[in-house]
Amino acid sequence: MSQNDLQDHWQKVYSGKSETELTWFEDKPETSLSLIAQCAKPSDRIIDVGGGASRLADELLILGFSDVSVLDVSEQALLQSQQRLGKRAKDVHWLVADITKWQPSRKYTLWHDRAVFHFLTQENQRQAYIDVLSQAVAPNGTVIIATFALDGPEKCSGLEVVRYSPKTLDAVLGNNFKLIESKQQHHQTPKGGTQFFQYSKFIKQT
Ligand SMILES: C[S@@+](CC[C@H](N)C(=O)[O-])C[C@H]1O[C@@H](n2cnc3c(N)ncnc32)[C@H](O)[C@@H]1O
Repeated sequence: MSQNDLQDHWQKVYSGKSETELTWFEDKPETSLSLIAQCAKPSDRIIDVGGGASRLADELLILGFSDVSVLDVSEQALLQSQQRLGKRAKDVHWLVADITKWQPSRKYTLWHDRAVFHFLTQENQRQAYIDVLSQAVAPNGTVIIATFALDGPEKCSGLEVVRYSPKTLDAVLGNNFKLIESKQQHHQTPKGGTQFFQYSKFIKQT
């Protein structure tokens, strides 16, 4: 998919539906929050990659995190979050970018990605993501990546995905990221379906 097609696809997704109708919608992203709470402190620099209209940023602000960034290829998705947050939207750094082409200008202590990496079906896309990840995360920083699990759906939003276990994701990220924890999630979609996710937490080594 070209850069324009990618952006068009996600702009249409978020223009056509409200956040609560999307299969990946979570009223409160409990699994992410529990993994973040174990290792982060409010002064940490956190980025939610492909954050879309997720309510993770809202919850992080409530918990007192003062340096929260949300990046997404769809400006429409970020607008939904900004409207929901109202005055608090100014407390978040909003970044519109394709993560595989993004050039980070600072280092983050915590990188969170729920359901973005699994869309990268080509080796060169995954390598580009890992290059950006390596540049953007500070040494000893934390990386949380959630994808569909091996028994999760084969597609999301009409697009093919690659499914992972913590072990296969660890192998793809390579030696610079040490797997320290993983969790499974049985996500309930708004229409009552169940999707199996895996969440893996890594520490960047250098
Ligand atoms: C399945 S949604 C998950 C959204 C959010 N993380 C959540 O859990 O609610 C995938 C998100 O990734 C974004 N996305 C897809 N490909 C991307 C890319 N290459 N760079 C940045 N964002 C991307 C989409 O716009 C969408 O918001």
